[in-house]
Amino acid sequence: MEVRHEPVLLEEVLEGLSVRPGGIYVDGTVGLGGHSEALLRASAPDGFLYGFEWDEDSLRRAERRLSVFSGRFKLFRANFAEAPEILAREGIRVDGILLDLGLSSFLLEGSGRGFSFLREEPLDMRMDTRLPMRAADLVNRLSYPQLVDLLRTYGEEPRAAAIARAIVEARRRKRIETSAELAGIVARAVRPRKRGEHPATLTFQALRIAVNRELENLKRFLTGAPEVLKPGGRLVVISFHSLEDRLVKKAFREDARLKVLTKKPIRPSEEEVRRNPRARSARLRVAERCA
Ligand SMILES: C[S@@+](CC[C@H](N)C(=O)[O-])C[C@H]1O[C@@H](n2cnc3c(N)ncnc32)[C@H](O)[C@@H]1O
Repeated sequence: MEVRHEPVLLEEVLEGLSVRPGGIYVDGTVGLGGHSEALLRASAPDGFLYGFEWDEDSLRRAERRLSVFSGRFKLFRANFAEAPEILAREGIRVDGILLDLGLSSFLLEGSGRGFSFLREEPLDMRMDTRLPMRAADLVNRLSYPQLVDLLRTYGEEPRAAAIARAIVEARRRKRIETSAELAGIVARAVRPRKRGEHPATLTFQALRIAVNRELENLKRFLTGAPEVLKPGGRLVVISFHSLEDRLVKKAFREDARLKVLTKKPIRPSEEEVRRNPRARSARLRVAERCA
């Protein structure tokens, strides 16, 4: 399936990383390779890119897209939480590292793994199919208090109790197997929080974060990443919800190895949001490795 994914805040990423010819960069979330391609172009003719991506299909597509830069990049099918250790083991220090968190259009629309509440797909939500647990396992196995806790912790969902109750009741009749089934159960239990938002938005966010251990991965990455940056090297993180952004802000502020370059996060322009609605909630922060 052909899916386009427009890279978010592209100019701001290149500026934040201060990309230059000959620089060595890391893209921790290669996805379909939009940012990676721009990094390779901007660092031509001899810049180098290490890319990390969990999802096998995305990685294969990115590899094809980047093939014109053959010899200037190396891709790993690995968790970005492990990127600092992998690079350190090889003695590599870099000029810039990018993380573009969240979902790609490919995972949402083309993976068939139940990331979207608008589709009838198996309720899986694993970004890496080697992960042990699917969203359906959580939804069908967690106790009522565990479901409430999950929805509160990873979704900041104010209607967690009502939604958990509806899930427990529905699964008594029949195991919940698909994204559309779950979306329907939530939509019948609670109203949308805001106009234009699906009532299951935060439920889906919470499940995705739990299945992929997204916050743990981000924390581990933020602890290790400064160590592989050269002095003056830049770290750029784009987050899409406040749980992530809070972690990034705190890590940047409290890490003595880093100097924060963005007091406030950089947001997309109205023009960008009009062109690419996925950019709507993006927040970009930049830090620099001290000497
Ligand atoms: C928003 S997309 C990146 C899009 C990319 N910047 C582009 O322009 O095409 C995020 C990607 O990160 C991947 N991802 C999320 N968590 C990851 C992790 N812990 N390790 C490696 N890849 C991860 C997802 O599979 C997804 O493809």
